[in-house]
Amino acid sequence: MEKKIEQLRQEAAQAIKNVAGTLTDLNDVRVKYLGKKGELTALLRGLGQLNADDRPRVGQIVNEARQQLEQLIAEKNQELKSKEMDARLANERIDVTLPGRQTNHGHIHPLTLTLMEIKDIFMRMGFSVEEGPEIETDYFNFEALNLPKDHPARDMQDSFYITEDILMRSQTSPVQARTMQAHEPNSPIRMIAPGRVYRRDDYDATHSPMFTQVEGMVIDKDISFADLKGTLEDFLRQIFSKDVKVRLRPSFFPFTEPSTEVDISCVMCKCQGCRVCKGTGWLEILGAGMIHPNVLKMSGYDPAKVRGFAFGLGIERITMLKYGIDDLRLFYDNDTRLLDQF
Ligand code: PHE
Repeated sequence: MEKKIEQLRQEAAQAIKNVAGTLTDLNDVRVKYLGKKGELTALLRGLGQLNADDRPRVGQIVNEARQQLEQLIAEKNQELKSKEMDARLANERIDVTLPGRQTNHGHIHPLTLTLMEIKDIFMRMGFSVEEGPEIETDYFNFEALNLPKDHPARDMQDSFYITEDILMRSQTSPVQARTMQAHEPNSPIRMIAPGRVYRRDDYDATHSPMFTQVEGMVIDKDISFADLKGTLEDFLRQIFSKDVKVRLRPSFFPFTEPSTEVDISCVMCKCQGCRVCKGTGWLEILGAGMIHPNVLKMSGYDPAKVRGFAFGLGIERITMLKYGIDDLRLFYDNDTRLLDQF
């Protein structure tokens, strides 16, 4: 009996030692020797058949063997567990020095960039930013701007009509009248009004049936042509460069009198004459003038009490000159190869 126990003990101890796989393998060994139907358990059960003298001694041996095996199993269990943990740690290790995953950043559209800059400059001069609808009435787009129905200057701004009296606005100037009418008559105004405008036009490198303007308007008691000139010079030097030269040429708009076309010295060739300025050294940049008395009157302002100036500029043109973009259509193509550069 003792011999058999010793033999089993050694065999089991070896089996435990040999387990190289998983905790389940170890458990199988445990069941084989120490489980309910295990071999050592069977020996323990057989004690009853021994005579009373041998029973305590043999019982002790079996129990010792069992304790020893249980101890071995516990140790093996620990060993397997830490092996498993090491394997998992090695497997799941992350290399924190690897470069992060790249996310695609959006870019601000160049037209938006220019608009942000324009707003910034004028807001620092105390201008508010107004808005008007892109679908406009004939009254605000033309009549309130001193362009009655049969006025020949309407031809230059043929637009998309929705009805006889409603059209896609051909300019941001209607916001002049809208802003005046939203104010107490004769109260001072200093505003810009950016937004899209529409004209029946070609779609080529320098034209588009939809483009973006910024309107500007200042009204107060003693506003003079000198204020117009000073404000626009200041603006143009900030948006282009401080050594840009500004030139005013007489012009005509029905809603300003006198009217002027404002040129800057060519930003490409510094007035030497190049392809961009068509050899003239100057670039036409915006239209402006003193607000016509009729325009003030029609929106409830009294030209005997207040005066003002207004201007309108195209954001596409300014952006093309600022960044050297030679095709206006690039702004509307949504090609990320352009957008990624900003
Ligand atoms: N609205 C004019 C245009 O689109 C520009 C302008 C605005 C001229 C304000 C004078 C004063 O051509």
